[in-house]
Amino acid sequence: MVDDVDRAPRHAIPEESGLDEHFTNVAHSQEAVHGHGHDYESGSPHLAHPQLRNEVLSRIRALVADRFAQTGRCRVLEVGAGHGAFTDHVIAMGAEVTVTEMSRPSLQLLQERFRGNPNVRLLFDADGDAAFADGGTYDLVLCVSVLHHIPDYFTFVRRVIDIIEPGGSFASFQDPLYYPRRTWAGVKADRVLYLGWRIHQGNWRHGFATQLRRFRGVLDDENPSDLVEYHVVRNGVDEQGLTELLRSSFGDVELWRYFSTQGRWLQAWGQRLGVPTTFGLIATSRT
Ligand SMILES: C[S@@+](CC[C@H](N)C(=O)[O-])C[C@H]1O[C@@H](n2cnc3c(N)ncnc32)[C@H](O)[C@@H]1O
Repeated sequence: MVDDVDRAPRHAIPEESGLDEHFTNVAHSQEAVHGHGHDYESGSPHLAHPQLRNEVLSRIRALVADRFAQTGRCRVLEVGAGHGAFTDHVIAMGAEVTVTEMSRPSLQLLQERFRGNPNVRLLFDADGDAAFADGGTYDLVLCVSVLHHIPDYFTFVRRVIDIIEPGGSFASFQDPLYYPRRTWAGVKADRVLYLGWRIHQGNWRHGFATQLRRFRGVLDDENPSDLVEYHVVRNGVDEQGLTELLRSSFGDVELWRYFSTQGRWLQAWGQRLGVPTTFGLIATSRT
């Protein structure tokens, strides 16, 4: 989760690209927000809280291990790997990993980390098309905290399904549950918890106006943070719709609903309450 950042420089949209300007701005804003020195860890519950991180990691590991057991190899596409918090583990298991990243600074960091490793391929993804244009197919496609950044995530997941090998898997974690199916109070409570965490961090001044504006449901399409946290600040992500979509192409689909928030104590408290805010999807046995 991010708040105010400097305005993203506007890039000229090539006429021939045919891309919608709004979606192009969303893509360009990824780099503006996830730029040099961006701290992926502190504002990301699935990275900041060891228990949650381990739960995500153990699911990813199980998918990779299963594929190795079935076929002796595992080709992974990781979309939006950030600084590679999960990439490391998948590579350590011997998988061949292709990463796509919309942020060049993050990609550069990954290049330095994995330089010389023949099992890692890094693709700069200017418009969300890199994995599809590349023509590769995969045993596992991984999206960790990524779907909510993609305006048309249904089309994206449909396209991803087409590049997964028979018997392969799709896994996605850390997206907000669809707000229209949650209570108004529950969704607003999330925002209050987030603001509480910001205040505790001591950097609330800069983001306070943004949070207040979002709390009132007002969005600013000129502000990169409102474009980057696309579905967090809009309707959440439709977990049921995605589950149905995946069921049409996979033998088994698990929808994992869980609680997540930034603050450490709030996370422990929320987990005990057992009210889910966030979801993961694990689809296996591509037909
Ligand atoms: C919240 S971060 C998550 C990073 C990492 N997966 C993790 O969990 O630590 C989202 C990342 O996805 C990237 N991103 C967003 N949309 C993308 C897309 N369509 N294709 C590739 N990368 C994307 C952003 O640049 C950013 O680095």
